[in-house]
Amino acid sequence: MASSISLLLLLSSSLLLHSYFQYAEAQQVADGLSWSFYNSSCPNLESIVRKQLKKVFKNDIGQAAGLLRLHFHDCFVQGCDGSVLLDGSASGPSEQTAPPNLSLRAEAFKIIDDLRRRVHKKCGGIVSCADILALASRDSIFLSGGPDYNVPLGRRDGLDFATIAATLANLPAPSSNTTTLLESLGTKGFTATDVVALSGGHTIGIGHCSSFTGRLYPNQDPVMDKTFARNLKTICPAPNSNNTTQLDLRSPNIFDNKYYVDLMNRQGLFTSDQDLYQDSRTRAIVTSFAANQTIFFENFVTAVVKMSQLNVLTGAQGEIRANCSARNSGSLLLSPVVVAGEEKELRSTV
Ligand code: HEM
Repeated sequence: MASSISLLLLLSSSLLLHSYFQYAEAQQVADGLSWSFYNSSCPNLESIVRKQLKKVFKNDIGQAAGLLRLHFHDCFVQGCDGSVLLDGSASGPSEQTAPPNLSLRAEAFKIIDDLRRRVHKKCGGIVSCADILALASRDSIFLSGGPDYNVPLGRRDGLDFATIAATLANLPAPSSNTTTLLESLGTKGFTATDVVALSGGHTIGIGHCSSFTGRLYPNQDPVMDKTFARNLKTICPAPNSNNTTQLDLRSPNIFDNKYYVDLMNRQGLFTSDQDLYQDSRTRAIVTSFAANQTIFFENFVTAVVKMSQLNVLTGAQGEIRANCSARNSGSLLLSPVVVAGEEKELRSTV
């Protein structure tokens, strides 16, 4: 009797502990990245990052959302090269000053450089800020209740940031409809399922009034649930109010599938969220994720590992920054903004 009960317990716990690693590892790995990149050069890398983030999130779980969004904004603009982390320089204002980046959390930048300092102290300056951000993003998801998965590593840090125009062109606005999202993310190789899964990043974190008051004033978006709209108007009494509210009404700090339940109840915060349920091309995907969290997690891992490899720099490209917010001083003349032929000339004069 006792042994059959323990067998039952073992069986149910192994069913509950569903593993998502296989969905990451089924992804094609970009040239120059690998699953075991720092295995011998910095074997404690992942435990240093996870241990520190556990402490940070114990104090303020909101920081997990800030780090996940920072990784998204890094990867979508010029690739996952840590360029969003760079402060402005004589060559112009940085990506950070582009409107969609103004609401990135200042603490997220500090957390990344603090992790960089801890990692470099243990292993030397061999791990890029872009890799640390990819790992911090994975841990933000996992430590908020989401799936655990492996991240291919070996990214190098970019030598320059993107222009404000390029930043704006690559990050869709919250007023975007599904057609715009499918087009914009489609050019980066994402399918409709990827788009719906990635939007599930909005299961944690907050948004400012200005990101959604276009749905409240002067006219209320007829799609929006009436009680939800009334509550949002209390939080944001005017279009330019400076307050914030949670992106996922039902479980704002837990990485789960409730965001999709919100959408089915017309309680999505941004047009870009809600329209995924209104549009016939993505509605069934939303419904399937709302009905089954495992299916959401599987598809999210697939899509986020794809995102984490967008236009990565590897091998001898870029550099390993000694400080995530500034490029190394010796690399000033190797700016990638110059076209290939000119770059050769510049290198030969160094
Ligand atoms: C698909 C198009 C997307 C649009 C239009 C969009 C738009 C936005 C906007 C407007 C905010 C709030 C900014 C503010 O008002 O403070 C936000 C927050 C956030 N976004 Fe997205 N986003 C998109 C995709 C993603 C993706 C792919 C991820 C990650 C996988 C993501 C993760 C987050 C997170 C975690 C926050 C909360 C940040 C915090 O609390 O600090 N978003 N997003």
